[in-house]
Amino acid sequence: MLVSGWLMLPASSGRVRLSRGWLMIKGGVIEALGEGDAPGSADLGGEDAVITPGFVDAHLHLPQFDSIGQDGLPLLQWLSTVIFPAEIRWSDPAYAASMTRRVIERLIRAGTTSIAAYATVHHEGSVAAAEELSRSGLRAIVGQVLMDQQAPSELCRPAKKLIAEAAAFVDRVEALKNPRLMASINPRFAISCSRELLIGAGELVHARGVYMQTHLGETVDECELAVKLHPWAFDDAARAGDEGGYTRIYESARLLTEKSLLAHGIYLSAQERSIVRQRGCVVAHCPTANTFLQSGIMPRREYVRSGIITALGSDVAGGPDVSMPRVARAMIDGAKTLAGPAALRRGGIDGGEDDARIPTPARAWWQITRGNAEALGLMDAGQLKVGAAADVLVVKPDEASNWHAAPDPLGTLLYAWDDRWLKATVVDGRAV
Ligand code: GUN
Ligand code: ZN
Repeated sequence: MLVSGWLMLPASSGRVRLSRGWLMIKGGVIEALGEGDAPGSADLGGEDAVITPGFVDAHLHLPQFDSIGQDGLPLLQWLSTVIFPAEIRWSDPAYAASMTRRVIERLIRAGTTSIAAYATVHHEGSVAAAEELSRSGLRAIVGQVLMDQQAPSELCRPAKKLIAEAAAFVDRVEALKNPRLMASINPRFAISCSRELLIGAGELVHARGVYMQTHLGETVDECELAVKLHPWAFDDAARAGDEGGYTRIYESARLLTEKSLLAHGIYLSAQERSIVRQRGCVVAHCPTANTFLQSGIMPRREYVRSGIITALGSDVAGGPDVSMPRVARAMIDGAKTLAGPAALRRGGIDGGEDDARIPTPARAWWQITRGNAEALGLMDAGQLKVGAAADVLVVKPDEASNWHAAPDPLGTLLYAWDDRWLKATVVDGRAV
């Protein structure tokens, strides 16, 4: 399959650039790529098309896609009022499967080709979701949610049962032998897990070498309750004066590795940041959710500067936007709000040296493609390059936007982005 147009190519230090060119897709891989005129008539794209890598969403909840927009509640009340009732519906695996199919279609229509996702506490429902993801061709990291306390009885299971089910979930995903599907262990957050469950999950993470997904430091109330519920994590007298806080709970349960995806991480002390950095964990920044639930603004710049790996996630339904360009915009908005009006980007439109302070559109686009792929360890994803996976979007921006004549064409593409511009989503080399 020959695809031509304006290619969104990797540029230096975490940015993308646009250049006219073409790519040849064969067997799910970008087999050849060139700048300039295409060597034949293209199957997809054309003069006015933009060809970008598919978007990578580093954090979302499959069972929450029908719960977008239930506004006005802080995190813990929103979970009990809106989210837990929605997740209870996944007790029926057929419902979980059909909802997952709908979610997959929605993601593909938004150009998302790779995800890190949560299912629910239901084992069969989670397996059904994994099977649907496997069939879809999407690249996914997915886990059964673990919770044994502080939630309705329908969503709690004994810790021992959950650990056995989480291990069985990893087995069932591995038995699908789909290199695009990976299992994770998902203790929801410290509040909904007992000590026994967290420690069991940590053992499993090490025994199986899999990803771990959880939430950390999203709201002040959550941090206080988590620490109160887990005094055991702070037992060690040597840790007197310890400010490892909430993060210490996961650290004590051996849940923190290079394959740990920690969502939100707004409220982290200096010591917690240092634990996260030393362990090589990824903080999944979820700016749209942080605004929607009024949780706060994550100090992204400080994290990036101190060497913490950050990714970007929609956190649907905490975040109301499925579309990753919208989430990328919210990342820029948050950085602008934190920096204040005096901090116009020092280097002008392209940000110069300091675009970590307020990310440029070129960096934001990189973040939702290659940046997220690297953070999640999906090394052949998120870029247009020979040998990379053929997860590619064909976009036809509105003519009237006159985007390529703008001083910063990437700025127009990001800020004027409309899902209706998306003409084809190529997943694993197939146009779907
Ligand atoms: N913390 C624990 N569970 C959740 C969830 O489902 N969404 C968000 N935003 N935060 C959480
Ligand atoms: Zn979440």
